Amino acid sequence: PEAITVAELANRMAEKAADLVKSMFKMGMMVTVNQTIDQDTAELLVEEFGHNIQRVSESDIDIDHTTDVDPEETLKPRPPVVTIMGHVDHGKTSLLDALRGTDVVRGEAGGITQHMGAYQIKTKGGDFVTFLDTPGHAAFTQMRMRGANVTDIVVLVVAADDGIMPQTVEAINHTKAAGVPMIVAINKCDKPEANPQKVRERLLEHSIVVEEMSGDVQDVEVSAKTGKGLDELIEKILLQAELMELKANPDRMAEATVIEAKLDKGKGPLATVLVNRGTLKVGDILVVGTESGRVRAMLDDKGRQLKQAPPAMPVEVLGIGGVPMAGDLLTVVESEQRAREVSAYRQEQATAKRTAMAPASLDTMFSALA
Ligand code: GTP
Ligand code: MG
Repeated sequence: PEAITVAELANRMAEKAADLVKSMFKMGMMVTVNQTIDQDTAELLVEEFGHNIQRVSESDIDIDHTTDVDPEETLKPRPPVVTIMGHVDHGKTSLLDALRGTDVVRGEAGGITQHMGAYQIKTKGGDFVTFLDTPGHAAFTQMRMRGANVTDIVVLVVAADDGIMPQTVEAINHTKAAGVPMIVAINKCDKPEANPQKVRERLLEHSIVVEEMSGDVQDVEVSAKTGKGLDELIEKILLQAELMELKANPDRMAEATVIEAKLDKGKGPLATVLVNRGTLKVGDILVVGTESGRVRAMLDDKGRQLKQAPPAMPVEVLGIGGVPMAGDLLTVVESEQRAREVSAYRQEQATAKRTAMAPASLDTMFSALA
């Protein structure tokens, strides 16, 4: 049975802990504020105080991971998640192709990225880095915003022959809003008309002062075409990541964020997810957004089958009952029964939100650690 302290319960109900203690005394229970009580007792108290009980898993309501924190001793180093942003055609996908030894650009309609790619590479030094590729086309603001919000580091790609353009500025703004550190990759430096110094100067207008200008934003001249500066770019990413001491608990039921989802004619609903913490495994029962399902198979970015996906790993998941939405949280649960409960709860919440009739305010919400 799960437990909660009297103080924590009082806090969640926005009541005085002393009043709870008093109330329990009347029920014949002697407890102190810091004592833990079982779920049934907690529910009794919630009813006693006239609040509504909503049984949801902690991870379910804790989408931004503010209260359900993994204990320090469970945390292990994880790879950084790096989102590539920048104006259309400035060479984001080409840079990733060069880093991965692939040719994604050639397969793109009109050479324009229209979805978010997710990849993990192993560096020469043996470190792993997860990359998210975003589209630069003006129409895809949402994707860029999402990219900035799920990442540890942003690499801003600016073509040295084109300079600061509207979506460069947009990317800078998303990055600042997300509070994420940035590394500037000045690309296409192989071109005769490239003018990296001008890029650095124009960045000043947006309060980005790069190292070359004695600031603290790392910058690097690169060429996706010749491979110039790519090792240096990786070094800078790893340096930044090291400063951040990125960690996650791999030994728990997984939580992941949906990067992209679609309906495949043959395979059914497909979701590319990024594991936030825990390890996602084939066979896991899950809730994702308002959908539920079971992991039937997982594929990495090269289409290889995986049995498990640790933190910061991007994987394509097969076996979800319907198509979730980008940005949805995927939560592994212990049983199908639980999956149905949570997805029903989420559906209710979604409906309530749509009809703007949600009566539950935070102070009446009681989340049991069920
Ligand atoms: P969107 O995803 O549509 O925003 O574009 P992108 O930023 O991913 O650019 P992409 O990688 O598709 O490259 C656009 C064009 O620039 C392609 O024709 C590339 O071959 C070319 N290109 C990319 N990087 C370089 C480079 O370093 N040097 C030169 N000369 N051309 C490059
Ligand atoms: Mg692209």
